[in-house]
Amino acid sequence: MYRPDRAQPRIALQKTRDYDKVPATKLSACARFIPQKTKRDNKQGHPRCHRMACCPPLQIQDSILSNSILSKKTPRTCEDTLQAQHFNYFIRQTPMTVQIKTAEEIEKMRTAGRLAAEVLEMIAPYVQPGTTTDALNQRCHDYIVNEQQAIPAPLNYHGFPKSICTSVNHVVCHGIPNNKPLKDGDIVNIDITVIKDDYHGDTSQMFSVGTVSEKAKRIIRISQECLLKGIELVKPGARLGDIGFAIQHHAEVNRCTIVREYCGHGIGRGFHEQPQVLHYGKRGSGMPLEAGMTFTIEPMVNLGKRHVKLLDDGWTVITKDRRLTAQWEHTILVTDDGFEVLTRRSDEHF
Ligand code: MF3
Ligand code: CO
Ligand code: CO
Repeated sequence: MYRPDRAQPRIALQKTRDYDKVPATKLSACARFIPQKTKRDNKQGHPRCHRMACCPPLQIQDSILSNSILSKKTPRTCEDTLQAQHFNYFIRQTPMTVQIKTAEEIEKMRTAGRLAAEVLEMIAPYVQPGTTTDALNQRCHDYIVNEQQAIPAPLNYHGFPKSICTSVNHVVCHGIPNNKPLKDGDIVNIDITVIKDDYHGDTSQMFSVGTVSEKAKRIIRISQECLLKGIELVKPGARLGDIGFAIQHHAEVNRCTIVREYCGHGIGRGFHEQPQVLHYGKRGSGMPLEAGMTFTIEPMVNLGKRHVKLLDDGWTVITKDRRLTAQWEHTILVTDDGFEVLTRRSDEHF
């Protein structure tokens, strides 16, 4: 669980100023949720009503903030109301800061990362036609709790009902495991986050169920390449915008699109810490990286349009056009001369 009081940063890299277009102002909602302006927003003069069931802190672009909340005395939409409430609570407590992990913390992050990766390796052979995502959830839960003596971070996280996220076909992220059997040709992202010794490790990968279409193979491949291209750029002095640019560029030259409403995130004692790691952006923009930062990169890449929709369960995010989408995620440490992938699986060679 995110606990603002335990997430106090030691080193403030920046207080209020944002870097270029990186969102600057702390608000609340899913830390990975970034409202996007839509045509309707412009017409009606306010953001659309999103249901926001998950509410760790969020940064919202200044422009959106001033349009939607600060400039209004009375919030007009349920989203405004929620954001205004959380604004009052969070903005005074949590400045725009990124924690630099100590050597001891990094050791704990290594352990948590390795455990998260091991859950994916454990579950891989069970992702077969006929199994349910509930069954996969149960197996992961038992493994994390009993074998690893760790905690599945999603369980009860702002009310999330299960221990893992399973996102099938056109589900972008935060899919809730259920009792529907996987069928031949499905693709599924399994997203694992464990807490060990107070520190989080967060990783996800795509699985093909039986034999999948060429389109499915393609979106799985491109999204993984996007992640790898982002990771390769991580080193002190590189900027978040360099990473976002490389990811967006690789998706778009391959006629795919990047989901913008959700992003990667700092990670440590908190599940979702600063900074936000956007999967799109401009080279040379954004916060410079420093050794000791830990964050995730987790691009969500669509075959069709980039737009998404939140289902009424308050969690499941789907592509608006119902076309396929895929995501891969790693937890990364910035080292003195580059990066270390804390959630590396044994088949990966970074
Ligand atoms: N693991 C997801 C991430 O990559 C977050 C899941 S939050 C949950 O940030 F509540 F949906 F589990
Ligand atoms: Co994550
Ligand atoms: Co994750």
